[in-house]
Amino acid sequence: MPRLSDPLDLKSLHVRNRLVMAPMVTGLARGHRVSEAQIAWYSARARAGMGLVIVESCGIAPDAVIMPNLLGIWDDAFIPGLARLVKGIHKAGAPAVLQLVHGGARSLRENLSVERVGPSAVPVLPGPPPRPMTEGEIQDVIAAFVAAARRAKTAGFDGVEIHAAHYYLLSEFLSPYTNRRTDRWGSGRTGRTRLAVEVVLAVREAVGPDYPIFCRMHAVEFVEGGLSEVDARYAAQALADAGVDVLNASGVGQSSFGEWEGQPYLSTSSVLPKGAAPGTFAPFTGHLREDLGIPVIAVGKLAAEAGLAQRLLDEGQADLIALARQLIADPATGTKLLEGRDGDIRRCEECLACFAAIRKGPIKCAVNREL
Ligand SMILES: Cc1cc2nc3c(=O)[nH]c(=O)nc-3n(C[C@H](O)[C@H](O)[C@H](O)COP(=O)(O)O)c2cc1C
Repeated sequence: MPRLSDPLDLKSLHVRNRLVMAPMVTGLARGHRVSEAQIAWYSARARAGMGLVIVESCGIAPDAVIMPNLLGIWDDAFIPGLARLVKGIHKAGAPAVLQLVHGGARSLRENLSVERVGPSAVPVLPGPPPRPMTEGEIQDVIAAFVAAARRAKTAGFDGVEIHAAHYYLLSEFLSPYTNRRTDRWGSGRTGRTRLAVEVVLAVREAVGPDYPIFCRMHAVEFVEGGLSEVDARYAAQALADAGVDVLNASGVGQSSFGEWEGQPYLSTSSVLPKGAAPGTFAPFTGHLREDLGIPVIAVGKLAAEAGLAQRLLDEGQADLIALARQLIADPATGTKLLEGRDGDIRRCEECLACFAAIRKGPIKCAVNREL
């Protein structure tokens, strides 16, 4: 069984140990472009031991961004800034993968009267339901992912990650809760998985056989009527068969139903609730990994308990361990874990001040005062 400090080689990508910086919107981009503060943010975490950095969600179209200060990649003009970011991360010692997102029915809008699109008219935010996408719009999304992946490769990223989690567009197509279509983009597992698979096939064609493609999707959803474990296993296999090299398994840690003008809307979160045990997603991730034949990344409070990250590797529940909020609280968590200095880690208090901050501006943290 691998040690946390063991490398993992994957096509052209050398991951120097099993710790991955999970993608996290920082709110540090300016006009959707990379800022100096952002380069410093990622470099600090790369320097402090992380084996691989997955850079935060980057919007593939101007009407598909998910936060006000999101990175963009819908034009070649974004490439020089992204290239400077990659250079900074490489200089700090880690490879970098860029996550690509279309926000779908959770895309940012100035006000509720501006339309959102999704697979079906099922709201996942307060406001009018999204408009079901046309065939032409679906083809445009595939083309936008392809163009974005090409730009990421040109900028020097060591791979791209297709975001098919967290109830953004591709995840909305995967979920039976949000995908009620009766055409070939819905109606059954094959139909619901089609868009994510078509995106992967088209991106693979564009970037070539040796360029690593990651895909983030849910191992589990704590959502009534959402993606089941059987759905997740089906989708993971279909994505691996289509050419995904690494499956970044996330989850919906909590969900509830709100009400807007008498209509229910689904509200979801990628983080586990405060009371949930560290590693709650891991057994589901382990099931997904069985027989899949490609490396799988686990996430979910995995530095909150001494020895947990190594245990997940020992038990075969994951090949790589992703950390998110803990790296906001203590950028040096990676080094401390690798050196067995768990006691020195400045702990994330799970207050979610980070999430609240990025909806308005730059990221903040209750325990990391340097921010
Ligand atoms: C501030 C913040 C921003 C996030 N942004 C992203 C993102 O851009 N893409 C993504 O896939 N997940 C995003 N996530 C989810 C994390 O990658 C991770 O899955 C989640 O926080 C659970 O891991 P943790 O318990 O280690 O924090 C974000 C989480 C936080 C707290």
